[in-house]
Amino acid sequence: IRAQSPIVSEQNTPSNSPHRFLAYSAPSQKPIHPPTFQQPTQLLTFSYTPERQLEFTDSAMRYFVEPPRGANLGNRYENWVRRPDERGRVDGLLRAWSKAKAKIANSGDGTKGQPSDIGVIAWRGVMTKILTAAYEERDGWELNVMCMNGTMYFEEHLSDAKLKEKNAMEPRHRRQTYYGYAFESYCTSSTPHKQEDCSADTQGWSGDVNTNVQWCSVVKTKLGDTRIIIGGEVDCVREKYTGRPDTFVELKTSLSIRGPHDEAKFEKKLLKFYFQSFLLGVPEIIVGFRTPSGYITTTQTFKTLELPRLVRGKPGAWDPVACLDWGRRFLSFLKDTMASSAARDVWRVKFTPREGVSVALLDEAGVADVEGGEARVGFLPRWYWDKEIG
Ligand code: A3P
Ligand code: MG
Ligand code: MG
Repeated sequence: IRAQSPIVSEQNTPSNSPHRFLAYSAPSQKPIHPPTFQQPTQLLTFSYTPERQLEFTDSAMRYFVEPPRGANLGNRYENWVRRPDERGRVDGLLRAWSKAKAKIANSGDGTKGQPSDIGVIAWRGVMTKILTAAYEERDGWELNVMCMNGTMYFEEHLSDAKLKEKNAMEPRHRRQTYYGYAFESYCTSSTPHKQEDCSADTQGWSGDVNTNVQWCSVVKTKLGDTRIIIGGEVDCVREKYTGRPDTFVELKTSLSIRGPHDEAKFEKKLLKFYFQSFLLGVPEIIVGFRTPSGYITTTQTFKTLELPRLVRGKPGAWDPVACLDWGRRFLSFLKDTMASSAARDVWRVKFTPREGVSVALLDEAGVADVEGGEARVGFLPRWYWDKEIG
């Protein structure tokens, strides 16, 4: 893979306008001061119920179990309870963060986690996109960003058109998406051991897929000088839950590897697997390799922290240091851009592969679109806004 070095030139375009651009420049070089990334510590967990209600319990936590040999990932496709794609609102994460903050304040330990110095609050999916952008050659993305009391809030921006497109996914593509969830169903159980009561077609099957249900972990970490709060889904734990991420497991599916071309493709994909897990401190990734028609052939376990070494020098290689360096630059670029921003300002950040990142302040119509007629200030829920500003 050709690293598009994120080491960059920064420009104002033009100097009196709110539009700014962070550009790539080649070639990639090792940063002189590799950025540090602090081991994530978990603040709390929460669950979404089958009805998509958020509750501060571990009801959606699952245990890893070995999937049956040759599991059919198309199993019970027609029973899939599918949550419609929606805007990636930060509401759930803000509820969790508010609760965590209250807990910190009540603990009487004033030295730890002063809430005021949090630089970024975002879902893990957004952070993964930022940290893998240096190697992204195909898919661009957009964010809405607000900056309140020195904290930047990120949400993925999905235009109505893009949302419609996502919800009208082609049947073949939709089925492939289901395979990933079905693998989770085969590999998880609500008890640490397999339930033995199943008939042949559902052997090891832990229940029909309902993508409303998720178990989430909220962690605190730090990239360079920026403290970050990240929330994301955790697929399951191995054997027991310790209250920390050390037994967390991420489950993935991928097409079986049949030659060097497939292998390079897989190695490239490992970059996303890596950051997705790394950001929450998930130490283990279990990949189910499948046939094109959705049958598991083998499973393989990877240690998250060993992935960079595994791909080093290979055709699909990537270097996480380049990604962290890009991430740090991206965050400080946004912070500078928003330094004199009003709290209710909403910025649109647009990433274009191989080009860079542009930032612009949304006008009134843009903000109204982001608010979507709900009780919001920008994209932040009003209850959160009142709490922070009031
Ligand atoms: P796979 O990752 O095994 O393909 P996650 O692995 O992040 O827990 O997500 C579970 C499944 O959700 C994925 O399984 C995939 O099927 C689906 N999924 C997640 N993110 C997706 C995306 N951006 N587009 C399409 N499907 C996605
Ligand atoms: Mg998941
Ligand atoms: Mg998964």
